[in-house]
Amino acid sequence: PRLAVIVVAAGSGTRLRGGAPKAFVGLGTRSILHRCLLGVFAGPLAQVVVVVPEGYEGDALTDARDAAGPAADLLTVVTGGATRQQSVSAGVAALWADVAVVLVHDAARALTPPAVFERVAAAVDAGAAAVIPTLPVVDTIKRVDADGRVVGGVDRSELAAAQTPQGFRRAVLEEALSGAETDHTDDAAAVAAAGHAVVTVAGDEASFKITTAPDLERARSMMQGAPA
Ligand code: C5P
Repeated sequence: PRLAVIVVAAGSGTRLRGGAPKAFVGLGTRSILHRCLLGVFAGPLAQVVVVVPEGYEGDALTDARDAAGPAADLLTVVTGGATRQQSVSAGVAALWADVAVVLVHDAARALTPPAVFERVAAAVDAGAAAVIPTLPVVDTIKRVDADGRVVGGVDRSELAAAQTPQGFRRAVLEEALSGAETDHTDDAAAVAAAGHAVVTVAGDEASFKITTAPDLERARSMMQGAPA
């Protein structure tokens, strides 16, 4: 089935304080977005939709064309929205008619290994409606009330940390987003709320989301081959 990747890069990046929207902060020779797209274009694709903040469409196209190389004609750049879910919806609206499988990926997970894209796409091809990469939770998690008091524990063995790319049959994602009544922080939550089963595949430590300044340092040192 024809595969598209939607890369959401329309966040403001206020927690990173990088002086630009997060995806346009420097990493390697260019930007977080550029590095992310190098990984995306390592696999076979029919379309790549990049969702960016208003005013950054031109910058995004320059970086994306460079990362895409000969595959530049597969690129679509669109303007995002106020929330991640709105940005994903803008990306979905730009999908070409013959796309059947969609992977939604955070630009901020710039070092995601190509093998993770392959695992997610393979699970959708094998028949799953929705697939997410996850990692086991290593910390002990507490439920805490508004006053900062611990009100209970959570069984860690039942928890997993969700990453991206998250993969979907196109119709399932479209239906879930168009019917979503709340603003979900990931696409699998919208799809699960619409009543679909979501399956997991193994995520990867390298797929961490660049959120804070130390995360950016970690990404930079990983790219130099130094221990993170
Ligand atoms: O804010 P957070 O780190 O959870 O954002 C995850 C991803 O979603 C980032 O790649 C960010 O650029 C994207 N995003 C977006 N539009 C928004 C908010 C976040 O594309 N309005």
